[in-house]
Amino acid sequence: MNYQIDCVSNPFKDHNFNLDWSSESAFHFHQSLPGYKPTPLWQLKNFSKSIGINQCLVKDESHRLNLNAFKVLGASYAMAIEIAKYLKLDLNNLTYEIIKKHSEQIKNLTFTTATDGNHGRAVAWSAKQFGCKAMIYMPKGTSKIRLDAVLENNALAEITDFNYDETVTLSEDKALENSWILLQDSSWKGYEEVPQNIMVGYSTMVTELMDQYSDWPTHVIVQAGVGSFAAAILINMFNQSKPKPKLIILEPKGAACFYNSIKIGDGNPHLTKELNTKMAGLSCGMPSLLAWNIIKELSDYFAICNDNVAFKGMQICAQPIEDDQKIVSGESGAVPIGFLHAVCSNSDYGHIKKDLDLNESSNVLFFSTEGNTDPDLYRRVLNLE
Ligand SMILES: Cc1ncc(COP(=O)(O)O)c(C=O)c1O
Repeated sequence: MNYQIDCVSNPFKDHNFNLDWSSESAFHFHQSLPGYKPTPLWQLKNFSKSIGINQCLVKDESHRLNLNAFKVLGASYAMAIEIAKYLKLDLNNLTYEIIKKHSEQIKNLTFTTATDGNHGRAVAWSAKQFGCKAMIYMPKGTSKIRLDAVLENNALAEITDFNYDETVTLSEDKALENSWILLQDSSWKGYEEVPQNIMVGYSTMVTELMDQYSDWPTHVIVQAGVGSFAAAILINMFNQSKPKPKLIILEPKGAACFYNSIKIGDGNPHLTKELNTKMAGLSCGMPSLLAWNIIKELSDYFAICNDNVAFKGMQICAQPIEDDQKIVSGESGAVPIGFLHAVCSNSDYGHIKKDLDLNESSNVLFFSTEGNTDPDLYRRVLNLE
């Protein structure tokens, strides 16, 4: 397979960064959701050995509430807060049951968002659980299967003629026009509260991890689209009173808005216009402003890779070595493991392995953020047809 990989260190890193961040209310809320249970954390012992590191840990979000991706943690919590504000409820001890008691009053509330699929499915599912409505806009090129996954949750949805960033603008306009509530997982100047709550919702993954893993990672490799997921993981890892792991942001080469912005070097996020990647969840041209402000301060490295690296990661997860756990991981979920494999086992990237200080003492943590959310692509990559 032809790999293209690059990695640069972060000139803006601030070792004294401090941000008050509480994840307790989100965890309290998630525990009340029907069907909630923590997703598994796997240790791939044989894989770690094969690439010369100590531990490879994978938090497997394909098991998240039967929705095949982590996104519902953010959508459900942010939606609950918006509903609670509408109903003038106490925001602190929110639970699913408290909101359900008010179903009749909220049945005409409509939430809207733009999404490649996973976030839209999560918004649609959450609206259905609470008994309100959802209208989901999807960028051109979105697969029919991803559209169907949203429609199955009783939402209205359409695939637009626009790319992801233009579709975000469309849903913002539609929200204004129709008095809908915009539940976007990205932020910009003047639109910060909802995406902040979405990021707080993602914190639950780290809260669960603290219970599942008594050791501690030396490296965390997190994939980024608009960066809300990565920023939430970074801030939660950083805020623990434990040694700071090396934090690495990974993006598709064809949608590298963080890497490109860092390369521009003025400390601001910039739009990457042309998007070209099969990693649909990571195909975003503009960093979320809130995420940028966290990632710019906390990340140690910014890395990019081409789609083949993600495909290799999918294969490693699907065809484990000996008794390692088999993991169903889609292209946006598996890219960090493909990256780690390439960097540790390919001498062309020995300099990156050295820079990142990856060696036999390293404990590397990933989040497989989705299962086979695009089953056609999954089958093709694994030669299952
Ligand atoms: C499976 C998957 N992983 C990672 C991400 C990246 O999240 P963010 O856009 O917050 O960076 C997404 C976003 O949609 C996703 O669907």
